[in-house]
Amino acid sequence: MIHGNSWSKYCIWEHSTPVKELYARRCRREVEEMTCQAQAAEILQERAVPGDILLDVGCGSGYFYHSLRSRKIPVDYYGIDAAPSLIAIGHQYLPNFGLPVDRLQVMRIEDFDGEVDFITCINVLSNIDNYHRPLERMLQCARKMVILRESCGDKSKYQYVRDKYLDEGWDLRVYVNTYDREEIMEFIRSYGFSVRSLVDRRTGGQPELVIDYPHYWQFIIAERL
Ligand SMILES: C[S@@+](CC[C@H](N)C(=O)[O-])C[C@H]1O[C@@H](n2cnc3c(N)ncnc32)[C@H](O)[C@@H]1O
Repeated sequence: MIHGNSWSKYCIWEHSTPVKELYARRCRREVEEMTCQAQAAEILQERAVPGDILLDVGCGSGYFYHSLRSRKIPVDYYGIDAAPSLIAIGHQYLPNFGLPVDRLQVMRIEDFDGEVDFITCINVLSNIDNYHRPLERMLQCARKMVILRESCGDKSKYQYVRDKYLDEGWDLRVYVNTYDREEIMEFIRSYGFSVRSLVDRRTGGQPELVIDYPHYWQFIIAERL
């Protein structure tokens, strides 16, 4: 009949061996730091004080931990991600670098609740159906700041496209959305935050193809008033 255990089956991030290998290499520090994670860490460096808690939403395998640790940013890092196999990669490697296993949890944005000081959400919202409910949850749970890096432009564009780069036998689609920058910023303000956008250092404001579709990466920094 029916069951409710199909998240992994329909999740593109569970079905790409190259992505899993890349995420494992990032956890093992065998590849260069992502420019966007360096940029996010530098923003946090100015604001974090000892004892602050940071939640990385849609953390992949949790390798953003390295960007914080290498800069001695004094936050306690937690990461959640909906893909069990990606969290398993973090569990395998990051404890060797000092991250307790319980800091990485399989959890969907839609399901988390609580209070933290900082939230980062990098390269996530553009690939899910919409931003309102997940972003609302992040704004409700962040005491100080939410840092987003997403595809933003002058107007929203929603696309649900086939990911041609999955492992053989998997034919799945994923959202590649670009969100109206002003609309998302106004949404953030309505939750009691000041907000600014920053040029993405990696792409310098130019589009970048990901799975053959242009993404217009931008940082959006929300600070609680
Ligand atoms: C493009 S990856 C980005 C990973 C990491 N933030 C980075 O920048 O390398 C998007 C991540 O979002 C996760 N994700 C997608 N939908 C999610 C949801 N509803 N709740 C939590 N994580 C989700 C995926 O499993 C995937 O790991």
